[in-house]
Amino acid sequence: MAHNNLHETASALVAEGKGILAADESSGTIKKRFDTIDLESTEENRRAYRDMLFTTPGVEEYISGVILYDETIRQSALDGTPFPELLESKGIIPGIKVDLGAKPLALAEGETVTEGLDGLRGRLAEYRELGARFAKWRATYSITDSLPSDDCIWTNAHALGRYAALCQEAGIVPIVEPEVLQDGTHTIERSYHVTCRVLDALYTELFDQRIDLFGTLLKPNMVLSGYSASDRAGGEEVADWSLKAYYKHVPAAVPGIVFLSGGQSDEDATAHLNAMNAKGPHPWELSFSYGRALQAPSIRAWHGKAENVEAGQRAYYHRAKMNSAARTGAYAPAMEREAVAV
Ligand code: 13P
Repeated sequence: MAHNNLHETASALVAEGKGILAADESSGTIKKRFDTIDLESTEENRRAYRDMLFTTPGVEEYISGVILYDETIRQSALDGTPFPELLESKGIIPGIKVDLGAKPLALAEGETVTEGLDGLRGRLAEYRELGARFAKWRATYSITDSLPSDDCIWTNAHALGRYAALCQEAGIVPIVEPEVLQDGTHTIERSYHVTCRVLDALYTELFDQRIDLFGTLLKPNMVLSGYSASDRAGGEEVADWSLKAYYKHVPAAVPGIVFLSGGQSDEDATAHLNAMNAKGPHPWELSFSYGRALQAPSIRAWHGKAENVEAGQRAYYHRAKMNSAARTGAYAPAMEREAVAV
């Protein structure tokens, strides 16, 4: 087992000023994104969209790795270069989403368990051959007055542990993603409490399943008031409650925490990351692994048209740069307007 390579890859993914682009939307999810610009989700359109993102000039200054989907890791840029090779040539580490999605958890109304463990050892070997050096597995938990249940929390934690062990055996860095969904009307205190329970179960399982934490990354939700709550907590509170949860439950051996953006606006996701880093230094790097918050303005600017590729790339480059600034607490909302003027 190539432990040192795992450590090196995990650290490289959270290198100074850099974060991860999550471009691993499943075919169903990317269709939803394309629906917003009235674009049909064909294999060629999906390829062209990822081509635009991955060939963005200079973005490697801010992006350390890209998470691909099974279809995407097998696709190529317009000039025929396979996407993993193209990324590597820019110094960007290719990664792969390996879970097969959150499915209803039996006998647990309203809850899910993430599937994809059967045959995973073989799939990881193939992905590594195709160039993947890290992977992602996402579990989801809903908050209500009574959920998530212990059953849901521990079942998903166990699966995350099994996934992480198989990744490390294959020489692939596992990103473990326990996403407490922030939909609903819950208070930020409730989100904090649920996030703590989820993280506690996760690190218990990772310990029991002999995971080398130095060769992993955590991809958690930020602790937020529910998106539909009437009185939502502001940025400082988000940073304080989030940090409190990670300080209590994420071992210092973990090299980095790379956030998902969830349903936050692009600028909120950046501002919240910035607020947390402004309160540093912390035991782990605090970085980003955003999907929507890096891509939303880009997909709008592109609109599925070849003549808009440069505009789409500028929008993506800009968000990557803003989030890079947020890694050191150097981001300020005024920087958004300056860039638009360029
Ligand atoms: P969002 O940033 O859009 O939440 O996506 C990140 C991700 O990879 C979710 O699994």
